[in-house]
Amino acid sequence: MTRTGDEAWPGTSWARPLEVPLPARRARRLRRTPAMRALVRETRLHPQMLVAPLFVRPGRAIREPIPSLPGHARLSVDETVDEAVRLAELGVGGVLLFGLPESKDAVGSGAFADDGIVQQALRALRDAHLPLVVIADTCLCEYTDHGHCGVVSPEGRVDNDASLPRLAAAALAQARAGADMVAPSAMMDGQVAAIRAALDGAGLTDTAVMAYAAKAASAFYGPFREAADSAPSFGDRRSYQKDASNGRESMRELAGDVAEGADILLVKPAGPQLDQIAAAHARFDLPIAAYQVSGEYAMLEAAAQRGWLDRRRAVLESVTGIVRAGAGIVVTYAAADIATWLLEGVE
Ligand code: PBG
Repeated sequence: MTRTGDEAWPGTSWARPLEVPLPARRARRLRRTPAMRALVRETRLHPQMLVAPLFVRPGRAIREPIPSLPGHARLSVDETVDEAVRLAELGVGGVLLFGLPESKDAVGSGAFADDGIVQQALRALRDAHLPLVVIADTCLCEYTDHGHCGVVSPEGRVDNDASLPRLAAAALAQARAGADMVAPSAMMDGQVAAIRAALDGAGLTDTAVMAYAAKAASAFYGPFREAADSAPSFGDRRSYQKDASNGRESMRELAGDVAEGADILLVKPAGPQLDQIAAAHARFDLPIAAYQVSGEYAMLEAAAQRGWLDRRRAVLESVTGIVRAGAGIVVTYAAADIATWLLEGVE
């Protein structure tokens, strides 16, 4: 079927009718109504697939706002439990705990102390019996006075092998305090195997390991380091975190963590590494998680505050993109908001 130019554009002064072929396939048919769009939607978010990061600090009844993460605060243990209750009511799948210890030292003792701040929160959460998965970030950077993710040798290098027993001890302390899952994020070689061996050796065979397998040395961790006061005091993290330019290297990291016994593989940051989420999903049959990190969230927040983005639509689109790429689990600072919007029923 064709239509003449005269009919298509009545009133034009073309001498000869313009022949325009009409499309046989019309994509717009399936976009016509909200119900039609919902029916053919390929990717759906669900609160259960979201994990909310929480920052735990000492004290009682304290919510200390984090300027670079609007809507988030450093929480005392009691407030952490309140927040987790709220998240559980929203149907959010899990919480991921980070700690701000009373004091820091060279080896990050707060990470593995029995009464470390995260361990206190884990016990309180265990006692609250909430229907969500409680995950502890396993790293030393929040607890070391130099801010690196491992211990530092006398020559000033981050010492991989000396860090492993500390990371294993931290995971053990977290598991003993009630963590359902530990999430090693230090990017030390062999950390998953070291942690798995320590857990199994202590009879904690049911504690799962979510490995930050493909974690890049990213500019997008900036707000987190402010929140956790964990910026390295010298150098940077490039000698242990993966070069952000490398995607094939991520596959080696993921395969390594599978071999070491990881239960879930995490790609981080998410938005800048969507290709690696997709590749991980295609190559490995373990659950794939992705972390929409602090800087990704802060960018959205900052633009929304200026009125440059529709916050709800932009946040939902960014997380939907991460899920469409292949992540079945998304760690995001927007977890509570997204769950709320989903309960309200957004298109
Ligand atoms: C700890 C850790 C970091 C993040 C998660 N775990 C900081 C870092 O590696 O510097 C970043 C999370 C975020 O930016 O939201 N190693």
